[in-house]
Amino acid sequence: MKMVAAVIKHFKLDEVKDSLVQAGIQGMTVTEVKGFGRQKGHIEIYRGTSYEVRFLPKLKIEVAVSEDRLEEVISVIRKAVYTGEIGDGKIFVSDIEDVIRIRTGDRGDAAL
Ligand SMILES: Nc1ncnc2c1ncn2[C@@H]1O[C@H](COP(=O)(O)OP(=O)(O)OP(=O)(O)O)[C@@H](O)[C@H]1O
Ligand SMILES: [Mg+2]
Repeated sequence: MKMVAAVIKHFKLDEVKDSLVQAGIQGMTVTEVKGFGRQKGHIEIYRGTSYEVRFLPKLKIEVAVSEDRLEEVISVIRKAVYTGEIGDGKIFVSDIEDVIRIRTGDRGDAAL
């Protein structure tokens, strides 16, 4: 299993949620986060001007998926949040060792 964590802009949350539900995803987690990317929290970079780095408010969505759905989920997220502008966000993929559904004790793919 893989954990897909995407840092996105707030206004894209509903679109990405609806797209993931449409694709059959059964759960997700959303967290308010702050971060910066290559522009260091600024809209433009002026050559020769040094800036302080600013944190911008973002949302992080996390979706645990079976490996066979990984690429599909990545493209669903990407399609939903893409604007082509800087700061569109980033998707981080990591391994999940196990998942346990507390109520039933289901494990692994069966617990997703
Ligand atoms: N290397 C990183 N490590 C951890 N978080 C990151 C990293 N890069 C980006 N992020 C998170 O993703 C958010 C959005 O990043 P952003 O889309 O601006 O990335 P970027 O690399 O600057 O790409 P772009 O040039 O398209 O803006 C950041 O505010 C930060 O929260
Ligand atoms: Mg950026």
